[in-house]
Amino acid sequence: MSSILVLNGPNLGRLGSREPDVYGSGTLDDLLEQLDRDAAPGVTIDLRQTDDEAELIGWLHEAVDTATPVILNPAAFTHYSYALRDAAALVTKAGLILIEVHISNPHSREEFRHNSVISAIATGVIAGFGFDSYSLALDAINRKLG
Ligand code: DQA
Repeated sequence: MSSILVLNGPNLGRLGSREPDVYGSGTLDDLLEQLDRDAAPGVTIDLRQTDDEAELIGWLHEAVDTATPVILNPAAFTHYSYALRDAAALVTKAGLILIEVHISNPHSREEFRHNSVISAIATGVIAGFGFDSYSLALDAINRKLG
């Protein structure tokens, strides 16, 4: 393993100014800095964000084609995108790790956030630890793949 895809869905490009009471004041650049620090030696963090469902699906296809493990924050797509779920299922059905992460704990928030259409096909789910949700996912991948 030399690279990990860290994929972020809609509105996460606004981290830093978006609802800091919920998501904290760190930006995506800050997240990348943290993950670069936490990554095992020799592992490259490929962090991306899009507001476009089709682009996110294309990146999951890329993960399958390149056999790359994925940390995925699907953002609002979590709650309703069957297309994203089907693409994420391609990753785990290919035997690759895909960890669903959330900065906040969706279960402690509005009712519509309580359901994830992704979780059932993810390798695992980590939520509620701020940016550390991603670092914990990184650690989980490290432990699984060594
Ligand atoms: C989120 C939680 C989602 O409910 C929300 O739509 C997001 C961010 C999180 O990281 O806490 O955009 O995925």
